[in-house]
Parts: sequence; structure tokens; C-alpha cells
Amino acid sequence: MRVSEAIQKRISCRAFKTKPVSLELLKTILNKAGRSPSGGNLQPWHLFVIGGDELKKLLIIVEQELKLFPKGHSPEYSVYPKELEEPYWSRRFKCGEDLYSILNIGRDEKVQRRQQFSRNFKLFNAPVGIFVFIDRKMGPPQWSDVGMYLQNIFLLSKEYGLDTCAQESWCVFHELVQDYVRAPSNLMLFCGVAMGYMENNDPINSLRTDRAPLGEISNFIGF
Ligand SMILES: Cc1cc2nc3c(=O)[nH]c(=O)nc-3n(C[C@H](O)[C@H](O)[C@H](O)COP(=O)(O)O)c2cc1C
Repeated sequence: MRVSEAIQKRISCRAFKTKPVSLELLKTILNKAGRSPSGGNLQPWHLFVIGGDELKKLLIIVEQELKLFPKGHSPEYSVYPKELEEPYWSRRFKCGEDLYSILNIGRDEKVQRRQQFSRNFKLFNAPVGIFVFIDRKMGPPQWSDVGMYLQNIFLLSKEYGLDTCAQESWCVFHELVQDYVRAPSNLMLFCGVAMGYMENNDPINSLRTDRAPLGEISNFIGF
């Protein structure tokens, strides 16, 4: 598969088949993804990859906690700036509305919206959960390194017939995940990644999000 095709075909997959992913394939993808660039070659990412019964147990613990705290706990970092200004507010709003309209969930249907949020904590049924940590001492440059590494995982997954969804939502259960995987306290959870085989028949996977035109996000100087 060409890189362009993988970029074009990658989407955030929000419904997976139960079909397991082999450990061998997982390791192939993660090894290859490690060729990602990072400033000073720090490679500031650390993964905890969970599957099988261990994943089921974690999801049960989180399910219980969600009953007590439907919005989760307070996160360790702000997912978005407090005042999300334009054009970011509209972009975020549009992608949320497009998702809910595919699911026939109206603006006032708070319960249904909450249910969709809670599906994050089932990893959308994916058989593999990758929890991505970064050393707390790292700053914005290293967080951007982690982003590049993640994109390698997403594109390589496409090449190998798998799909993925990055999930910042896991930051509201960071202590639970940290304890469960016994991550040392110098590490901080950035996000989860659901990985597996896409359920093509689920309408949620028909969502294709917009992108701003090049003219809106770039300036060319000296051409
Ligand atoms: C770091 C990161 C975290 C994300 N967290 C979530 C999440 O918690 N739940 C979710 O459903 N989608 C999540 N997404 C998916 C974005 O909503 C999605 O990438 C965006 O709307 C563009 O859509 P696309 O990935 O299908 O192209 C996340 C994406 C990224 C890159």
C-alpha cells in the first residue's frame, strides 16, 4: 500500500470486529513505527499494550467507575484550551455534529451522547488497547514526537489491514490505567489507541471528517 493510500484510507474507527490481532502482527507494526523521527532521537514514547482477558478486566473496572463518575475523573492535562476560539471551535463542533447525525442522535439527547462517549471505554469493541505514555518531564516538542510515532502506528496498521482510533478520552481515567498497567509514576498517560479489524457494517465508520483547505492553514512566501 502506498503512503498516500494509507493516509487517504485511515479514519478513526469506532466499531471493531471481535477478531483478535496476533501478537506477531502487533510487534511488526510497533517495531516498524519505531522508525519515527524525534528531536534528538529521544523516542519519548512508552507503550502498554493490552489484549485478551487482561483487557477485559480493565474494561470492567472502568465500567464500574463510569457508573460512579459518568464524566470520568479530572484529567492530568487539558484536552483542549479552555476557551476554544475560531476556527477551532467550529471545526470541533462540526465533527461532533456529523458523528451524532450518523447515529441519529439529536443535540438535546444528552443520554445518548453520553452513551457514545462511554463507548470509548469499551475501546469500541477493539481487541487491543494501546496506552501511550510520556515522561512527565517532557515538553511540547516531545509531545509532538509522540504524535508522529502514533501516526506511524495508524498508517502501518492500515497497511496490515488493521484500523485504529486514538482516544484522548482515556485521560479521564488516567490513574486507573496507570495503576492497572503498573506504569511508573514518572510516566503520564497521553492517550489510548483502540486497534483491531474494522466493522464495516457499522454506520459509525462511514464518518468522513472535513479538512480545512490548504489556503486556510498555510502561507506560501517567495514562490
Ligand atoms: C490524539 C487524538 C485523540 C483523540 N481522542 C479521541 C477520543 O477520545 N474519542 C474519539 O472518538 N475520537 C478521538 N480522536 C479522533 C478524532 O476525533 C479524529 O481524528 C478527527 O475527528 C478526524 O477524524 P479522522 O481521524 O476520522 O480523520 C482523537 C484523535 C487524536 C489524534
